[in-house]
Amino acid sequence: MSVNQEFSKHAHKYQQLNQIQAEVAKKLIASMPICKPKKILDLGCGSGAIYKLIDWEIEKFVGVDFSSNMLSLHPEAQNVTCKLGDFNDAKLFEELREEEFDYIISASALQWAADLDRVFSDIAKFDLPFSLAIFSSGTFATLNKTAGVDSIIPSYETLKELAEKSLHAKCLIGISVEKISYTLEFENTREMLRYIKRSGVSGGRNLLTYKQTKKLMDEYPLNYLEFEVVYINSFSKA
Ligand SMILES: C[S@@+](CC[C@H](N)C(=O)[O-])C[C@H]1O[C@@H](n2cnc3c(N)ncnc32)[C@H](O)[C@@H]1O
Repeated sequence: MSVNQEFSKHAHKYQQLNQIQAEVAKKLIASMPICKPKKILDLGCGSGAIYKLIDWEIEKFVGVDFSSNMLSLHPEAQNVTCKLGDFNDAKLFEELREEEFDYIISASALQWAADLDRVFSDIAKFDLPFSLAIFSSGTFATLNKTAGVDSIIPSYETLKELAEKSLHAKCLIGISVEKISYTLEFENTREMLRYIKRSGVSGGRNLLTYKQTKKLMDEYPLNYLEFEVVYINSFSKA
């Protein structure tokens, strides 16, 4: 199953199951160094977690997502555009750069970029301040280790390196990169695996074989899942 199919399939349950992503969106909004931008671009907007947290007046909000099911849950308003688009497609950014924005935001989405270096370079070309929260490979670290599989999302080190190379160097601004870990407790491993299946957080990877699942059920040593999120914020050098 592709990332798109995975998010589309679970879209209706997303808001109940994604406590960590909700926290991430809150922190991202709270950490925005430039207060109260008026024209916002949200990459991978999903069902509108970021838009719903905006408590100041804005002129324009463009949310981009490649899952029409997720977009159908996004709040509508006269100044809101929900745009069906894939951030793996460089043409999307060419179109978006023809519009006027004053801030770029992305919460819990860019870990699914096929070529993050290119996406960062495309973001840098707007020459705008940005706040990005990206899940990194410490997410499900013990689960992956117990099951004997590798993470499919980038590591903190890779994100930091790419951000410094492609976001930092090309913008007239600096960046801060911060890693934060979260945990989510479960009554038992079965509940935990059910959560992974229903929440869309596996990004479409048919996670485990029967044998790997059995190994996890027998050997997973924690009563919680681990999440790791990298926050990348721009700031003015002046
Ligand atoms: C975990 S959800 C986060 C949604 C929202 N930003 C939030 O904080 O709740 C990730 C979103 O990214 C979208 N997404 C993943 N890959 C994408 C891509 N290549 N282009 C556009 N959207 C994508 C998914 O459809 C999903 O809505």
